[in-house]
Amino acid sequence: MSQQKTVSFKRPVLRGTLQVPGDKSISHRAVMLGSIATGKTTITGFLDGEDCLSTIGMFQKLGVTITREGTNVVVESPGIANWETPTEPLDAGNSGTTARLMLGILAGASVTSEMCGDQYLSKRPMKRVTDPLSMMGADITSEGQTDYLPLTIKGAILQAIDYNMPVASAQVKSAILLAGLQAKGITSVTEQAVSRDHTERMLMQFGAKVEQSGKTIRLQGGQQLTGTDVVVPGDISSAAFFMVAAAMVKDSEVIFEKVGLNPTRTGILDVLQSMGVTITVLDEKGFSGERYGDVKIQYSPLQATEIGGDVIPRLIDELPILALLATQAEGRTVIKDAEELRVKETDRIEAVATELRKLGAVIETTEDGMIITGPTPLTGGTLQSYGDHRLGMMAAIAGLITSEPIHIDNPSCIAISYPHFFEDLANLVKQ
Ligand code: S3P
Repeated sequence: MSQQKTVSFKRPVLRGTLQVPGDKSISHRAVMLGSIATGKTTITGFLDGEDCLSTIGMFQKLGVTITREGTNVVVESPGIANWETPTEPLDAGNSGTTARLMLGILAGASVTSEMCGDQYLSKRPMKRVTDPLSMMGADITSEGQTDYLPLTIKGAILQAIDYNMPVASAQVKSAILLAGLQAKGITSVTEQAVSRDHTERMLMQFGAKVEQSGKTIRLQGGQQLTGTDVVVPGDISSAAFFMVAAAMVKDSEVIFEKVGLNPTRTGILDVLQSMGVTITVLDEKGFSGERYGDVKIQYSPLQATEIGGDVIPRLIDELPILALLATQAEGRTVIKDAEELRVKETDRIEAVATELRKLGAVIETTEDGMIITGPTPLTGGTLQSYGDHRLGMMAAIAGLITSEPIHIDNPSCIAISYPHFFEDLANLVKQ
């Protein structure tokens, strides 16, 4: 029988300060670059969620020494040239970022490995990465189709390519750049719309030279990385759940401390502002090439908005929770250009619409998004997580505004990106 969690509050208000867990994208990359590099890397504020633990597990099987005490991680690596051939398959679990970036890294490493993932990841497309990697000379094969895990990666001599990305995806961009690091020549990647640039920033932090002009990134192959210290800011994609909660629950006011403010990730703040939410950014700083700061969000009457175009990659993971917010906004919110949602941990367009409709939300789905008409009062019910952490958290936050309790089926997946989610929720809610 699947596990269930009930969220039920009588007239909640959210108040206080919150430091959300470390950024998932940056945590993955810190372990990856620390393992490619020679020497010691220390990571503070690491996200101890299941996805990032999958990344650590892979490198341990490759002979990298990684020790972790909570959110402090130390990586000691002999460098990519000296990794060991793993004796067991490398398991990416549920993590698309682990799988896709590791395909790029392993393509040019001097080991042969097999990569697998869980039932959800095994259905997510890998061809978007294996196609450009094959153009570079990668030797990636499978017993079935090379679009899906499990895959066998035999390290090969790679050649640089100039690649125009057909999809807006930081995972694809990063996989090519990380392969390019081992390739002969200068690799260039051109994006359609700018996606999160943590890989580029962190490569520079580890001593590589990366050039950026407009939407094109260039990297000379053969550069050596050296271990360094990485401080991981709070994950704005995790904060987004409580930002939306504070914005829609009457009289709420929450300060998010040390949350990442990299401009390629702050689309959520732009959209909240366009919906009428009062946002104050306090004490913005930069460290390790990443910006972060304290952000105050206050309850505000909400208006509908249009979310599409270049902002989409800057808030792609926030669209499920923004859809919930839109049910409380006056008017018709249109989400478009977001067809990538269909290949996330689950088809997030169908899943979000199906679950929110159970509560009475008025949502129409389109090929590339949703149209949400609000405001609608929401009733309670049983919502599915689809094994998708962001669907599980959306369901829990819905429980703050529903007239009856919300029961979440299979909530354990929330630990993929936010292990202490329910504790943080309980601490912020004053009844
Ligand atoms: C990520 C990129 C995005 C995002 C994912 C993390 C990354 O995926 O949805 O949660 O760390 O590079 P896509 O590259 O598929 O858009």
